[in-house]
Amino acid sequence: MRIGMLTGGGDCPGLNAVIRAVVRKGEGHYEHEIIGYRHGWRGLIEGESVPLTLASVRGLLPRGGTILGTSRTNPFKSDDGPARVLATVERDRVDAVIAIGGEDTLGVAHKLAGEGMNVVGVPKTIDNDLSATDFTFGFHTAVQIATDAIDRLHTTAESHDRVMVVEVMGRHAGWIATYSGLAGGADIILVPEKPFDIDEICGRIRHRHGRGANFSIVVVAEGATPVEGTMELQAGTLDDFGHVRLGGIGNRLAAEIEDRTGYEARMTQLGHLLRGGTPSAYDRVIATRFGVEAIDAVHEGDFGVMVALRGTDVLRVPLAEGVVELKTVDQRLFDTAAVFFG
Ligand code: F6P
Repeated sequence: MRIGMLTGGGDCPGLNAVIRAVVRKGEGHYEHEIIGYRHGWRGLIEGESVPLTLASVRGLLPRGGTILGTSRTNPFKSDDGPARVLATVERDRVDAVIAIGGEDTLGVAHKLAGEGMNVVGVPKTIDNDLSATDFTFGFHTAVQIATDAIDRLHTTAESHDRVMVVEVMGRHAGWIATYSGLAGGADIILVPEKPFDIDEICGRIRHRHGRGANFSIVVVAEGATPVEGTMELQAGTLDDFGHVRLGGIGNRLAAEIEDRTGYEARMTQLGHLLRGGTPSAYDRVIATRFGVEAIDAVHEGDFGVMVALRGTDVLRVPLAEGVVELKTVDQRLFDTAAVFFG
């Protein structure tokens, strides 16, 4: 078989580990030919690909980012986009495509499967917000980086009697904020799932400081929003999939906390640091298992599916299931984190 592979959406630790696993089993065991499309779906629209061989994936397991490049290109944004993708697949004599990405990339994969493309999805995102899988690779690494940062910020918080606001990624779901906040001992965690009340936050901080604490750590997901009408936010620009570009809530929050409580407040925005560098051992293992399962699915002709982690098992589920809804933070987990607030 001749198989095309792409990585779409934000880069994420573990993408290269998936690419390596697909090629190692695909070429090494099944003797399939594998090509990589550059920059996500854009590579299929523009017909830009590179050969992927056992030699080209050597040394990839610990490497961050994606050797294929990525983009947030949506073929369905233009009238001829889907037809151009299908024409590339035909021209390149590609029997199946492995699409590695989050809700947007897999959403496109699902639509193209409906148009007759043989496709297998691999779920990735540091946000961990895909409902069909218990975990996506990249999440564990991002949580560890955020936790390390919170640990370090404690030093300055304690030494200077400050409120430290730590902004982490998490567009629609606050998994990174909740996990890293729990692991780092945050005094307040704010997530997109639950609009926050700035009065209540300041009340908690005052209460905590009134009981003898000289500092506080607030972890906020970039997608967290205030209760309507309580605090103004700046509007961001939109990407190809209609998602707003976030980043900045931490700054607003720190200024507001300082104003209202009189405690000195500072903000650290972790942003793309959470997506950078080498994947954790855990993410390398899931990414590798996902890659092997994806190439097995292609080899068996099992298309229109995505691989997923359920409990400790890697299995296949219909792509439709993977893109139907976002997985938001579990209330019981958040309640556990909230035991330590204020
Ligand atoms: O989807 C992963 C993610 O890191 C989100 O947490 C974040 O909102 C978004 O990507 C940022 O994307 P970009 O790097 O394109 O600005």
